[in-house]
Parts: sequence; C-alpha cells; structure tokens
Amino acid sequence: MKNLKRILILCLCVFTLCSLSGCVQIGNGKKIIRISHAQSETHPEHIGLLKFKEYVEQRLGNKYEIQIFPNELLGSAQKAIELTQTGAIDFVVAGTANLETFADIYEVFSMPYLFTSEEAYHRAMNDVDYMKTVYESTDEAGFRVLTWYNAGTRSFYAKKPINSPADLKGMKMRVQQSPASVNMAKAFGAAASPMSFGEVYTAIQQNVIDGAENNELALTNNKHGEVAKFYSYNRHQMVPDMLIGNLKFLQNLSTEEYQIFEEAALLSTQVEMEEWDKQVEEAKQFAQQQMGVQFIEVDVQPFKDAVADVQQQMLKENENIRDLYNHIQKYNEQAAQGIMPEEHLVILDPAVPEVSQPAESVGTEISQPVVPESAAQGGM
Ligand code: GCU
Repeated sequence: MKNLKRILILCLCVFTLCSLSGCVQIGNGKKIIRISHAQSETHPEHIGLLKFKEYVEQRLGNKYEIQIFPNELLGSAQKAIELTQTGAIDFVVAGTANLETFADIYEVFSMPYLFTSEEAYHRAMNDVDYMKTVYESTDEAGFRVLTWYNAGTRSFYAKKPINSPADLKGMKMRVQQSPASVNMAKAFGAAASPMSFGEVYTAIQQNVIDGAENNELALTNNKHGEVAKFYSYNRHQMVPDMLIGNLKFLQNLSTEEYQIFEEAALLSTQVEMEEWDKQVEEAKQFAQQQMGVQFIEVDVQPFKDAVADVQQQMLKENENIRDLYNHIQKYNEQAAQGIMPEEHLVILDPAVPEVSQPAESVGTEISQPVVPESAAQGGM
C-alpha cells in the first residue's frame, strides 16, 4: 500500500512539472478532477462521491473527468488538504478537526456534546445558507468547503471496557490531530495521542495506544474491531466531514458550471446520508457477530459531567466560534421541543440527467503547481 501511495504521489509530481512546462497532453482534452478521501470504496462517502462524479459528468462530461482516490492513497487527510490548497489535486474529503488550523471556527465541532441530538446535528448542517458563510472561512487558505457528510456519532473504543470516565484515566487514546481534540481527551482524563486515521489500526494492534474514539464504521470499514473489542456508547461528538475544493479551480468555473458542482455536492450529501443510516446498522451487526466486538451502553451523564466546563472554556478562548455555537443551540432547542423547521437541504432529483452540449475542447489542464515536500517525500 505504501509503495502504491508513493507511486501515485510521484505521478502527481511528474504531472505537475509537466503541466508547468506544458508537455502534458491527454488525448480526450478533458480536465481530470482528482478527489482524495480516507475511506474504503464501500464507505458511504465513496458512494456519495460516485454520485457527485455521475452528476457532474452527465452534465459536463465533455470537459471534466472525475477520478476518486479512496483509502488515503494520495496521503492522509492533512496531506491531501495541502495538495488541495496548492491545486495539485482538486478536492478532498476531510473531517473538520483537520480544518481547525486553517480557520478556527471549525473548532466548534470538536466541542464535546455540542449537538444534543442527531436531528439537531442534521438540521444545523443542512442549513445550507448559514453553512455557506462558514464554508467560505478557508478562502484565504486557498480552498472552500462545498458540502458536508455525516460521519455519525463518536464514542470511545478500546482493548478493555470503558464504563465511566474513571476508566479512561491514564489510558492512551488516539484523537484527531487538532488542539481541540487533544483538550477534549484530556478533559475526559485520558492521555491524548493525536495521529492520522490511517495509523490507528497498527497503533492499537502494537499497544502504542489503548484505544481510540470514532463512529461504528471505523470498527468494520477500517477494521479497528479486529484489534479493539469494546465499544462504549458515551457519544461525545458528532464531527462532520467536509468536501473541500481548491478555490482557484472553483473560481475559474463559469457560473453555470459552479452551480452544477454545487448541486452535485448537495446530491452527494443526500446519497451519503441515506447510505450512512443503512451502513451503521450493518456495521454494528457485523462488528458484534463477526468480529466479537461488545457494544456497551454506558451512563452518559458522568461523561458529560467530566467535560462540563469545556464548551464555556472554548467559547472564552475563541470568539470566532460564538455565532455558529449560538446558531447550533437554536437547533438543539428546536429539536428538544420537537419543533422541526422545514428541511433546508435541497432535494435534487437524481433521475434527471441532462448532458450539456459539447463545449469547446479545453485541452487537458493538469492542476496547478507544487506538491508539498511532505507529500512528495511519501511517508504515508
Ligand atoms: C472518521 C471521519 C474521518 C476522520 C476519522 C478520524 O472516519 O469520517 O474524516 O478522519 O474519523 O478519526 O480521523
């Protein structure tokens, strides 16, 4: 796998250099759009992205060809974000924890127990108009979020059962690579061990860490259930994944093209969310029956109590998250009272493919310069 990644990164470097010297010609004159993500080909996000590809290619297939690279083939989320920043690739799917260093508004999603129900989470994230303002917060960094994907609810899992926060004391738990995630684990009393997603399986297997925290699909899709047999439903976070695009690429699209990419993104979210609900149930059954994972329903209150100060602390330290935080509280309250505003997510009819007339051939543009050294050197 490592060698394959190195070869792919090397190819990207060669393409990039060639495009700078103008020597790349790909026969059909289409621009290749590369999307990187960290999950397998059966994961809801991959299935959502296939819909994105289909929708765009049905309408703009004379101009663009979309290639999806799963399994961190183009690098871990952080490296793939750097590639998207420079334009070496065009899109990446990454969790908001990875975006915190580019725009600190994304820290809000690392707050433990931010959303009080799945309904509130989905409604807040599907509030497309509001979220657009958040999505533009990384423009200065050279990329923009187009849509979100449901990545479920995160809980702790480990080699031994965790029934209360007291059990977490001294345990080395992997968290996502963000300061807010590290603080959250510390507030629970665990020893936080930040590392990329792709490293977690081996780290648990080799006892470098005692466990991690994630949704149920990490057990099956990423096989963590082979090495960690106890999943404790303390449900501390709902952290969305984001589809992120290179800003120059997006800005160079015509208004009509931009709209098609936006529609494709919304449609991919719709497909991903439906797939998510199906797959979580299947994952639980598979993990239990085939992998011997024990799911533990814990008393969540002591976990909430352990991190009760974290939200206010984070709000004090970062004013940029306040507006989004308050916005989310509105959805929490509405959901608690059973009031549900009308659905914001535009439901598109995937059955209406409309292939646009052939546009002028644009010649192949292999996206822009500079693969960051870190990625070019491999190490993934
Ligand atoms: C989930 C999420 C990923 C994230 C990963 C992680 O799988 O979908 O975007 O990278 O968790 O914990 O790193």
